Amino acid sequence: MPHAPFSHQPVLLTEVVTALQPKPHGRYLDGTLGGGGHAAAILEASSPDGFLYGCDRDTAALAAARERLSPMAHRLETHHCNFTEADQWIAPRSLDGVLLDLGVSSHQLDTPERGFSFQHDGPLDMRMDQSGSGPTAADLVNTLPASELADLFWKWGEERHSRRIARAIETERRIRPFTTTGQLARFIERICPRRGSPTHPATRCFQALRIATNDELGAVRNGLERAFNLLSPGGRLAVISFQSLEDRLVKEFMRREARDYDFDGPEDHPDFRRPRHPRGRELARKGIVASEAELDQNPRARSARLRVLERLPEP
Ligand SMILES: C[S@@+](CC[C@H](N)C(=O)[O-])C[C@H]1O[C@@H](n2cnc3c(N)ncnc32)[C@H](O)[C@@H]1O
Repeated sequence: MPHAPFSHQPVLLTEVVTALQPKPHGRYLDGTLGGGGHAAAILEASSPDGFLYGCDRDTAALAAARERLSPMAHRLETHHCNFTEADQWIAPRSLDGVLLDLGVSSHQLDTPERGFSFQHDGPLDMRMDQSGSGPTAADLVNTLPASELADLFWKWGEERHSRRIARAIETERRIRPFTTTGQLARFIERICPRRGSPTHPATRCFQALRIATNDELGAVRNGLERAFNLLSPGGRLAVISFQSLEDRLVKEFMRREARDYDFDGPEDHPDFRRPRHPRGRELARKGIVASEAELDQNPRARSARLRVLERLPEP
């Protein structure tokens, strides 16, 4: 079956360009290329000779981005990998800007065969990187002990009925293992009826499964420092997150880098602080959210928050 054209509208596009200030000669990394919307804007703003490295875990996204960016291919180098691995092919302190636009693309969500969405029936997959041998969402749902499944739904989906749902899944899968998104969504709706709520009862469990299947928070935890180390002084790290768990990790990382002290022990206490030079400077401490105008034409931007950290020179 022919694949639908790649459709993803980049969020906070003007804000990302304003934050990264792409310039001729500049060198940039887009660690989450997706359909290449942000990448195109960075390349255009840094013409005629700005250079962009790009990567994505998803081969379909990478192919779409390469095609879209083909007129500027001589200023582009792409890799199929996790952004946590970008420091294997980019030298430290060599970039002027890094963008991480986290999460999934509209294209991934809207392609039933990828298994991200309960709105379309498809295999319960949810892997961004389908070329790897990592577990699918179905593997997690069908094999994790109920207690681990409940923890997963609670921690990464903040699902209040996590235990009830996990126990019911454990019973059901002995008779009928879960194979499709529709089967799981309908089952969760049976266990936790909608009762007039506009949100589908499976929303939180689906989010949790997606995060777990792709180790999304692990990538953010690992990737931020690595990405920041690629920047030369004055270079900027721009991160867009779409949910609070992710945004908290980004915020904590940026606060830590911008602090002018380290501390010993598990908690920050004035008595245990050691002064140091801040490594970064936060721009817009509360983060940047979409304008009303953008929200009117792209509701997906509603949950997006952009945070920016500039690398300071070393003393
Ligand atoms: C929100 S979309 C990016 C859209 C892109 N900025 C655009 O303008 O089209 C997120 C993309 O990042 C990819 N992705 C998510 N986590 C990743 C990771 N840890 N490493 C590499 N790619 C990742 C996804 O496969 C997806 O294609």
